[in-house]
Amino acid sequence: MKAMVVFYSMYGHVYAMAEAVAQGVREVEGAQAELLQVPELVPDNILEEAGATKAREAFAHIPVATPDDLTNAHALIFGTPTRFGNMCAQMRNFLDQTGALWAQGALVGKVGSVFVSTATQHGGQETTITSFHTTLLHHGMIVVGMPYSEARQMTLDEVSGGSPYGVTTIAGSDGSRTPSENELAMARFQGRHVALIAKKLFEA
Ligand SMILES: Cc1cc2nc3c(=O)[nH]c(=O)nc-3n(C[C@H](O)[C@H](O)[C@H](O)COP(=O)(O)O)c2cc1C
Repeated sequence: MKAMVVFYSMYGHVYAMAEAVAQGVREVEGAQAELLQVPELVPDNILEEAGATKAREAFAHIPVATPDDLTNAHALIFGTPTRFGNMCAQMRNFLDQTGALWAQGALVGKVGSVFVSTATQHGGQETTITSFHTTLLHHGMIVVGMPYSEARQMTLDEVSGGSPYGVTTIAGSDGSRTPSENELAMARFQGRHVALIAKKLFEA
């Protein structure tokens, strides 16, 4: 069973969560995880002005995805930062290149799942995930979230992301907050959970 973690990250928060999701996948016996990032669309000078150039060096080694790569896995786990309560344009643009895959039904029956980073606690974590799910459903994917059996999403002892729709992290309005231990543990849970479901579906 193979899971692909496909993400976009500007400052590294989604990337850190993507590594944790992949780690969770690999905890399942026989499961492989591959990380891919979607192509950047923002010009270099704008990235520099936005203070993202340095942060992006940390994941420059992750290969860039092509739409056809999506056919090479049983499970697709997507990570995106929120942009105005929705997925980022880089991810949207990538998904908008999957029309041929849609026409062939190439992703029908694959397991799909989403995780997200926002700057603020209520800045659109849930809307970003649930609106992302719409695209997965158009592709005929089996959408998997993060059940409440992952009780870390119920913590009130500290500020934390996490929802039944999928794991989330909160970057802070200046991006200075990094994913907490609680959020990284939930990310591992979601990776493991998706892998276990895909394993049941594809190795039965
Ligand atoms: C154009 C733009 C729009 C954004 N919109 C939101 C938003 O609606 N809600 C929010 O909480 N954060 C918003 N953010 C902040 C990003 O979600 C945040 O920088 C991101 O989660 C950090 O993840 P990354 O380090 O992986 O890029 C926005 C950022 C940009 C550049």
